[in-house]
Amino acid sequence: MSSRVTAVAHANIALCKYWGKSGPLDTPATPSISLALDSLTTTTHVSRIDGESDEVLINGQVAEGIERERVVRYLDIWRSENYISGHLRIDSENSFPMASGLASSSSAFAALATALNELSEQRISQTMLSQLARRGSGSAARSISGGLSSLSSGDNPASRLLVPAEDVPWGMVVGVVDSDDKKYSSRAGMKLAEQSSPYYRRWVLQARHDYRYMLHALRSWDLVEVGELAESNSNAMHGCMLASRPSLMYWQAGTMDIMHSVVSWREEGLLAYYTVDAGSHVAVLCHLDDLSEVAERMQSINSVVRVIANRAAGPAGLVACR
Ligand code: DP6
Repeated sequence: MSSRVTAVAHANIALCKYWGKSGPLDTPATPSISLALDSLTTTTHVSRIDGESDEVLINGQVAEGIERERVVRYLDIWRSENYISGHLRIDSENSFPMASGLASSSSAFAALATALNELSEQRISQTMLSQLARRGSGSAARSISGGLSSLSSGDNPASRLLVPAEDVPWGMVVGVVDSDDKKYSSRAGMKLAEQSSPYYRRWVLQARHDYRYMLHALRSWDLVEVGELAESNSNAMHGCMLASRPSLMYWQAGTMDIMHSVVSWREEGLLAYYTVDAGSHVAVLCHLDDLSEVAERMQSINSVVRVIANRAAGPAGLVACR
């Protein structure tokens, strides 16, 4: 049995968003489809320790408060199901900004679940691993399978690989804009939207419709159809968020600058489509051949502080065990 394990997972950005929970296992209220991104990675080392409690390090700093609690509560799920026992040291590094709507929890919990699986005393199937990753963060289920993956809204769902990374002809350029850590976590934001947004129910219906249409559109690899749908789906989710009371306004001025720019690039003939998660940064979907053109244009927007170009990434995996 291994005593120290290292796993890597890639963050993903959804083309059809998961926003809302239902049921006891935090089952997603909306089905989703996402693309895993090769430049956004979390590397997590997990080792057994003799101490009285777990040790959690994130980006080289000892995690405290809610950040630490979230990880320890997650380890408790694995312990309560007898998949692991004893205390652990978790040391996790992200290649990109956290807690600002850049999907860091997707790669973080996918890498952690993959490492825990290797330390586990039981055999866990890929389906179960994705379900367990989802208990850490809904979007993490999709980072287990990588590429273009879907996650349904049914009972205790696991992700399904739709298209492996090497067959995806599109990439995403992420524009990072200046922002503080987000005020509402996804979990808190989803709850607020469900409880107070007059559009929440309508959003859930629309998201289910978009999901079916997206599965269909992906079969023809039509970037116009897929991109328009991804943009509308993101706008619908933000409409629901904005109408929450108090408003979930994740956008900053820089977010709007990028969205408007993308629309004007399209008018000039560059096929590019934006999507925004629960944060201020913007991911722009385009053909792989246009990745550097989109990255260059993004760089020239004043409010953009960092540009990260991505191809599709593969599944979460182990990099070392001993
Ligand atoms: C807007 O997976 O971060 O990025 O399950 O509460 O951890 P929790 O939420 P999380 O939510 C992702 C929301 C989203 C859309 C998406 O990735 O599908």
